[in-house]
Amino acid sequence: MKKILILNGSPSGDTGNCAFWIKGMKKFFPKGVSLDVVTLAKSGYSSSLKKRISDADAMVFVTGTYWDSWGSPLQKFLEQATELEGTSSVMGKPAAVFVLMHSVGGKGILSRLQGVLSTMGFLIPPMCGMVYSLVSDIALQSPSSHAKDFWQKEDAELIVENLLKATDLNVQWALWPVDKKDPRRKWLRS
Ligand SMILES: Cc1cc2nc3c(=O)[nH]c(=O)nc-3n(C[C@H](O)[C@H](O)[C@H](O)COP(=O)(O)O)c2cc1C
Repeated sequence: MKKILILNGSPSGDTGNCAFWIKGMKKFFPKGVSLDVVTLAKSGYSSSLKKRISDADAMVFVTGTYWDSWGSPLQKFLEQATELEGTSSVMGKPAAVFVLMHSVGGKGILSRLQGVLSTMGFLIPPMCGMVYSLVSDIALQSPSSHAKDFWQKEDAELIVENLLKATDLNVQWALWPVDKKDPRRKWLRS
């Protein structure tokens, strides 16, 4: 059975829009897939989360937009999960990204987050990330010939499909050297 780990990076935790998005997205996964949701605002980085990351066949990152950035629980997670960079827990593991926003800033977050995840070692499959906004939500209530050019809730279905397809890849990825010493150590001397 394929295991998918969904990380909710919203500071609003279980009660926010990201949690609601995750609930709605679950229907796009086939029955035989196991879905594990972690709300980073509630449970942070731990040995249990490390194990769940390591066991997952793919991961889904969900965040809102907060002053042009992803959620602080997700930022904290990325800082703490730095130790996983280039390890077998993440190397080549497919990752999908969903960003919510009211109106602006989300695409920058999507691109930057995909870049960060790729640099850590995750695999970003094609068409595996989207932004959904309040603006689109309102605009899509009126029929428009432009509608197909807007990201829509239903696009999550093909993102899930691409994510699951990517889990069938079996590639021995090459690894550049990663400095495994403490990345927090001081380097300014004078
Ligand atoms: C503190 C804060 C800052 C926000 N900043 C932005 C922003 O810069 N751009 C935007 O389009 N939406 C912004 N929003 C709206 C949220 O991104 C949006 O409502 C999102 O769905 C929130 O998800 P959540 O309820 O899970 O936290 C902000 C919301 C909050 C609470």
